[in-house]
Amino acid sequence: SSVIQGFPKNFLWGGATAANQLEGGYNEGGKGLSSADMIAYIPKEQRSKEISHAMEITSERIEKILSGEFEARFPKRDGIDFYHRYKEDIALFAELGFKVFRMSLHWSRIFPNGYDEQPNEEGLQFYDDVFDELLKHGIQPLVTLSHYETPLGLTQKYNGWVSREVVEHYTRYAETVFRRYKDKVKYWLTFNEINVITISAFTGGGVVVDRLDNKLQGMYQALHHQFVASSIATKLCHEIIPDAKIGCMLARMETYPNSCNPEDIRKAQLANQMNLFFTDVHARGEYPKFMDRYFEENNIVLHKEDGDDELLKQYTVDYISFSYYMSITVAENPEGGNEAAGNLVAGSVMNPYLETSDWGWQIDPIGLRVTLNAMYDRYQKPLFIVENGLGAYDKVEADGSVHDPYRIDYLRKHIEQMKEAIKDGVDLMGYTAWGPIDLVSMSTSEMSKRYGFIYVDQDDDGNGTLARSRKDSFAWYKQVIASNGEQL
Ligand code: BG6
Repeated sequence: SSVIQGFPKNFLWGGATAANQLEGGYNEGGKGLSSADMIAYIPKEQRSKEISHAMEITSERIEKILSGEFEARFPKRDGIDFYHRYKEDIALFAELGFKVFRMSLHWSRIFPNGYDEQPNEEGLQFYDDVFDELLKHGIQPLVTLSHYETPLGLTQKYNGWVSREVVEHYTRYAETVFRRYKDKVKYWLTFNEINVITISAFTGGGVVVDRLDNKLQGMYQALHHQFVASSIATKLCHEIIPDAKIGCMLARMETYPNSCNPEDIRKAQLANQMNLFFTDVHARGEYPKFMDRYFEENNIVLHKEDGDDELLKQYTVDYISFSYYMSITVAENPEGGNEAAGNLVAGSVMNPYLETSDWGWQIDPIGLRVTLNAMYDRYQKPLFIVENGLGAYDKVEADGSVHDPYRIDYLRKHIEQMKEAIKDGVDLMGYTAWGPIDLVSMSTSEMSKRYGFIYVDQDDDGNGTLARSRKDSFAWYKQVIASNGEQL
């Protein structure tokens, strides 16, 4: 049979993290502050339904934080102390059998202000040590250059990515790390979830929206600069590390119509276009035509420099990666009060066929197969699932064990659908489960929203011994990798 059965031999199994949610050591080793260091823990009662509200902070807030007037906890400054414990953690990843470990470089560890002329040697050395430790265990690093960690200096000096100058600073950073790590890192990503900049400009691009005249215009201009920077990084990466692969990364939001009412169908189609537009630019090398109408109707005029279009066209990505946690359902008339809590899309409704996580995210394994097929049909480039998982409350038993069948169930069902998609003909390079070790939540800065196979003893208030222990899902995932996805 010519139908591909099962996962390819060299399939890249592993786990995914981001520096700001993991490392801690926010003021050690010469590191400067970053956007993530400004994100306070907000108790649940005060949190808005929309993720963006918790993270879209103002210039006034930043000033107050820096002057000490705004008192709060900043969990992303402390992470789970990977900065000091990476050897122990990597040994656990090795025990799981990881082939690949996705991590980001905290940009401000290497260029403390973002605009510095020279890199900080201590920061560079830290990542050398981490890569050496991974490689010692036969684990390939997969490195994200920018994962919601814009150096604060770039916000202060330029209002982040809205200014063209930031392209140059990012280029210098990318070139520095490509040269430094060329023998150690063969898989790269330019920007994590690049679409998030149009949902939360501060998170995605270090842009403070109160300094913008036209918010949407600013967000899309900042995005354009990231597209250009991504193309330049792709070019440099190929020149400096010819055997490396460099890709883009999208928060994929597979969107369904609520009914067969053509109005719902069209609404879902538009939502999918608006989501895939980002990978369209990265993979096909040009803005899709449907965006012209969106820009015109929203009074957005992009400033492009000579040569931008050529750069985008010439340096497209080698592979397309994405995160997938849930699907979204939209209705033209979302009869009030029926909105799904975790959804970021206006007009979204609860899908009655799906279960929902404790954070309101609608669990949809088949949606992953749908997405894999849709994206492969559209781009015919290799795909990589670089985030997937279930954020859940865990209970530690008296003997220290954590029984997490819900997590195993979630992951098993998604991996089964990946297998189906491979049979459908999709070229899938790998799978890195989000947060293989419990870490600080991106959207809420909670510790109690846990994704890990490895439990970390720390609570939402930052109390705990930080000790690591294996949950039931640890043995399960280990066997999944050992059997190359055959024993689920
Ligand atoms: C993705 C991010 O959006 O989702 C990660 O790239 C994040 O940084 C993950 O942690 C899960 O989201 P959360 O809010 O549950 O941590």
